[in-house]
Amino acid sequence: MKVLDLSWTEKYRPSKLSEVIGQSAIVERLRAFVKKGNFPNMIFSGSAGIGKTTSAIAMAKELYGDAISSAFLELNASDARGIDVIRGSVKEFARTLPLESGMLKIIFLDEADALTPEAQHALRRTMEKYAATTRFILSANYASKIIEPIQSRCVVLKFKPLNEDDMRKYIERIANGEELKIDEKAANALVYVSEGDLRKLTNTMQSAAVLGADITERGIYEIASRARPKEIIAMLGYALSGDFMKAREELNTLMLMHGMSGEDILLQSYREALNLNSPDKLKLRLISAIGECNFRIVEGANESLQLEAMLARLALLSSEK
Ligand SMILES: Nc1ncnc2c1ncn2[C@@H]1O[C@H](COP(=O)(O)OP(=O)(O)O)[C@@H](O)[C@H]1O
Ligand SMILES: [Mg+2]
Repeated sequence: MKVLDLSWTEKYRPSKLSEVIGQSAIVERLRAFVKKGNFPNMIFSGSAGIGKTTSAIAMAKELYGDAISSAFLELNASDARGIDVIRGSVKEFARTLPLESGMLKIIFLDEADALTPEAQHALRRTMEKYAATTRFILSANYASKIIEPIQSRCVVLKFKPLNEDDMRKYIERIANGEELKIDEKAANALVYVSEGDLRKLTNTMQSAAVLGADITERGIYEIASRARPKEIIAMLGYALSGDFMKAREELNTLMLMHGMSGEDILLQSYREALNLNSPDKLKLRLISAIGECNFRIVEGANESLQLEAMLARLALLSSEK
């Protein structure tokens, strides 16, 4: 096993549309576009690591084969050098002749929602200028952050976070490719920490594999620098049953032993709050306490003090009843 030779996110990036996991309605559409050789400008919207860039590249590979480098250009909109550099690259690329007459080229603009509205207007003009030869695919976390005049010129394809089965499929793909041993618990941990993001999943697996081909639950949580949900649930459970001291002990373990930040602890507490085996009313108060604590920490209050205060508040709830 050569763990360090290549980033697994590139090594395992599908090069064909048929290898893209999930997103089946979108893949169908892209396939039809490839078949026709004609397609509209598009916005690929959705969270990180769910196949936006991958699908664009796979589509381009199917369209252009080996000639991809002269027909597909990938740019990043959050490039600090700004819209002028983007327009410059677009201009140069769009100017060169297409491979065959009538064949459209593709410009994939990642993180297009990072552009200011002014820059987006400039982009819109550029899109129109080269409309005869070039199509744009804009990738964005939220299509709503793209200005209306661009949105109305694009087909919006909404990518969805991958579900557990999809993620397991991907874990298996990598585990087979790298000859890793990964048991059920470790796979569950991977699914848990990745939150539907296959980039995060892949990077976590690659880091875990540095330690050896046996991937363990413990290794995954350590790398993801998150506590096990078990410990978060224990902390909340103690607090809600009025045992402040025990809850505080769990909190210290999470912060000192696992090196979790206050924000991580709150985010995970929030995730677990919904699954707790407690009356709905208690869950609501818990979520409201988490929200308030988060706000205070974001405003700059001392993290561990605020977290302890939150646990104290939760512990008091149990004596109120
Ligand atoms: N739907 C998917 N099918 C297969 N691999 C995926 C999928 N989504 C993400 N990946 C993998 O995760 C990594 C990041 O994917 P990418 O398409 O770049 O994400 P983004 O949606 O942020 O553009 C790549 O290594 C890719 O192989
Ligand atoms: Mg991307």
